[in-house]
Amino acid sequence: MTDENPAPKPRKLFIKTYGCQMNVYDSDRMTDALAVEGYVATDTADDADLVLLNTCHIREKASEKVFSELGRLAEMRRERQAAGGAGLLIGVTGCVAQAEGEEIVRRAPEVDLVVGPQSYHHLPDLVAKAAGRPRFSTRRETAAAAVAAGLVSTDFAIAEKFEALPLPSRAATMARGLTAFLTVQEGCDKFCSFCVVPYTRGSEVSRPVEQVLREAEALVDAGVMELTLLGQNVNAYHGVDASGRVVGLGELLHRLAALPGLRRLRYTTSHPRDMDDALIEAHRDLDKLMPYLHLPVQSGSDRILKAMNRRHDRLDYLRLIERIKQARQDMAMSGDFIVGFPGETDADFEATLEIVREVGYASAYTFKYSPRPGTPGASLTEQVPEAVKSARLERLQALITEQMRGFARDSVGRVMDVLLEKRGRQAGQLGGRSPYLQAVHIEAPERLIGTIQPVQITAAGNNSISGNIVTDREHKSASVIESLAS
Ligand code: SAH
Ligand code: SF4
Ligand code: F3S
Repeated sequence: MTDENPAPKPRKLFIKTYGCQMNVYDSDRMTDALAVEGYVATDTADDADLVLLNTCHIREKASEKVFSELGRLAEMRRERQAAGGAGLLIGVTGCVAQAEGEEIVRRAPEVDLVVGPQSYHHLPDLVAKAAGRPRFSTRRETAAAAVAAGLVSTDFAIAEKFEALPLPSRAATMARGLTAFLTVQEGCDKFCSFCVVPYTRGSEVSRPVEQVLREAEALVDAGVMELTLLGQNVNAYHGVDASGRVVGLGELLHRLAALPGLRRLRYTTSHPRDMDDALIEAHRDLDKLMPYLHLPVQSGSDRILKAMNRRHDRLDYLRLIERIKQARQDMAMSGDFIVGFPGETDADFEATLEIVREVGYASAYTFKYSPRPGTPGASLTEQVPEAVKSARLERLQALITEQMRGFARDSVGRVMDVLLEKRGRQAGQLGGRSPYLQAVHIEAPERLIGTIQPVQITAAGNNSISGNIVTDREHKSASVIESLAS
């Protein structure tokens, strides 16, 4: 290459991801799609040519954050232009993009493109189109022109998307580490009365079995040891296999567990109504399937569960957990809770505390109810005052923190398989994950990164546990002692 003909400078892409793991997965897939067009990922907006905000609409706070971030980006673009620098393209993707569509460019004309989650395969075309588009002097003209140019793309053709999006390169997967997400299902048909997901992600669609297996094989081939299957309602998975048969999540897990290099499987998020026998049996039969399940219940009050349209009651949930624990004794649970759903009384809230005590969670997420436009919950009249929601949240969080710490303390003395993922914070230390997703620190040589080791847990801190690798023989005798004790 000569000086007169220098290589084009690679364009830089920064994606800021909000919300759930499905958005994390999508951000990677968008990075992969734009890599084909010559975009290189960077980890700050400061040197980016294209910034995408991959947004979440689940609660008001998440949604509103996007508009303040857009204001900052618009300011950055003005400063760059004033300094005679290169431009900056700004895009909004994810669930706010889907929910608000054209409204986004009207409210924030600095936005060049809006792409909903089902249209990510159009992203490279839309970016190219946006880059060549003239800008106008008024906000209204700019917004109208963006819409007219087709730069707001929010249709719902999921099947086509997965076929069209490129798989990550081997190098990109290797750089992302030993664990990976894999979306197998999108959308939700449950219509819980508080939730926007059925409106932002559309109705349930499952990816075909072979498509999932191909992607999993590519990930494993690039060194991935642990896969987390994702879906807004992942246990409603019903993908078609090569022979045209519909396969549920239990069977899909069996098919994936057969991949030799794959060591661990997880899936999230599940709805209690969709935990079928085959899936529970997979927990009994598959060692690779980790004994840790995120199974949100939202509330412990039957009255509120009904108003939330969860389609199960407290007892259904408790019985289900009993069955799951019968299938796999070392199972630990995680969950989500909403406090202050419209009409929630003190007694209803006490029932939530009660179910938390009954189940005993290893971890759980707690949220204050946030009325979302277009959902049935938002138009209910008995909204709970903010101060009451805050007080309930605090009590629930205190109980859950106590349980999480108890779970960590109970880990001490146990021998757990730990996937060693990376160097630890201190020299000579490695960081990994237990089967229960606890962060584990151990003293061990770097060559053990990328292996799973039996670790005797010796101490529990607030956010992590630590221990020592034990030899196979020590491990076996420890398991015998453990099983004698239980
Ligand atoms: N599909 C999953 C959850 C998706 S949303 C399920 O059915 O469990 C993730 C969590 O956000 C929910 O479990 C719920 O606890 C919380 N959430 C959803 N909508 C909310 C709202 N309007 N206000 C507060 N929390 C909400
Ligand atoms: Fe939302 Fe309910 Fe669907 Fe979960 S199951 S995504 S909470 S509507
Ligand atoms: Fe948020 Fe959309 Fe996920 S609303 S929680 S990013 S599905």
